[in-house]
Amino acid sequence: MALHSQLNQYQQRVEDKLAQRLSHNSIQASLQEAMRYSVFNGGKRVRPVLVYMVNQALGGQLEDADCVACAIEALHSYSLVHDDLPAMDDDDLRRGKPTCHIAFDHATAILAGDALQCIAFEWLSQTHPTLSTQQQLSAIKVLAHCAGDSGMVAGQAFDLANVGNTLTLDQLQQMHAHKTGALINAAIELGSLTVTKVVPQDTRDALIAYGDAIGLAFQVQDDILDVLGDTETLGKPQGSDIDANKPTYPSLLGIDGAQQKLAQLHQQAISALEPLGESAQPLRDLADFIVERRN
Ligand code: IPE
Ligand code: IPE
Ligand code: MG
Ligand code: MG
Ligand code: MG
Repeated sequence: MALHSQLNQYQQRVEDKLAQRLSHNSIQASLQEAMRYSVFNGGKRVRPVLVYMVNQALGGQLEDADCVACAIEALHSYSLVHDDLPAMDDDDLRRGKPTCHIAFDHATAILAGDALQCIAFEWLSQTHPTLSTQQQLSAIKVLAHCAGDSGMVAGQAFDLANVGNTLTLDQLQQMHAHKTGALINAAIELGSLTVTKVVPQDTRDALIAYGDAIGLAFQVQDDILDVLGDTETLGKPQGSDIDANKPTYPSLLGIDGAQQKLAQLHQQAISALEPLGESAQPLRDLADFIVERRN
């Protein structure tokens, strides 16, 4: 199918680019090994795929999107390594393999996460043949803002602070918008920044609305899969949220309520793309993938 060939093509592209970029060595081999272990382990690569799809929907060049695609996947991989640590979700399986702190040790996992975060910004700031320094600076700003205490990290802190609490629907939505939605939105903004021509305001607004909807949908489906999935397909422990007493969409709305919410968000994402016409078909297909995925 069209989506699968495009998804595979972009997944493969970012795998190759990451492999080239992560081939260096440092004075401590185990650090590099833990970084590579945490990146090359079967992730779906949704964020870099989104970067490439937005770049293409806006008429850009794929080569201009490689550095931001790699940067956002490195940053996401760091967030997963730290998310799994005993001080956070304390999970022992990720992408079908022992989590980084189990395969190595806690200190190495913390440091590999730290280094993956740094390297993301190093890649964004490296001299680039076509992107202007203004585009690069904007990309650094977008990623820093979406990953830090206004975005993903704030969502993670809120998640941990609310273990065992019953949140309002609005609080839960805010938590998910931060911990997961922020990086999905970053992928869209970064994709837009790799295109030199001016993006019309209605297209920008459409992409932001699409990003808000799929970002939340992504985490709602993640919560649903924690209940309905199986560990082998998920590649991470089924029931982890329930065991840790995490606030989730199924815990607040029940499975049926969470599935209804997911369907609504899917519809919102598709409607948001109307102004983009045919060029946005891969983004529509990606919205389908996000709500139908099984891992
Ligand atoms: C998992 O992200 C963490 C969430 C934000 C829900 P993904 O489901 O994108 O994980 P990988 O990268 O495919 O393993
Ligand atoms: C984590 O959310 C989101 C991140 C920022 C890493 P979860 O804790 O639900 O992600 P999984 O289920 O462990 O992948
Ligand atoms: Mg978590
Ligand atoms: Mg987790
Ligand atoms: Mg989860």
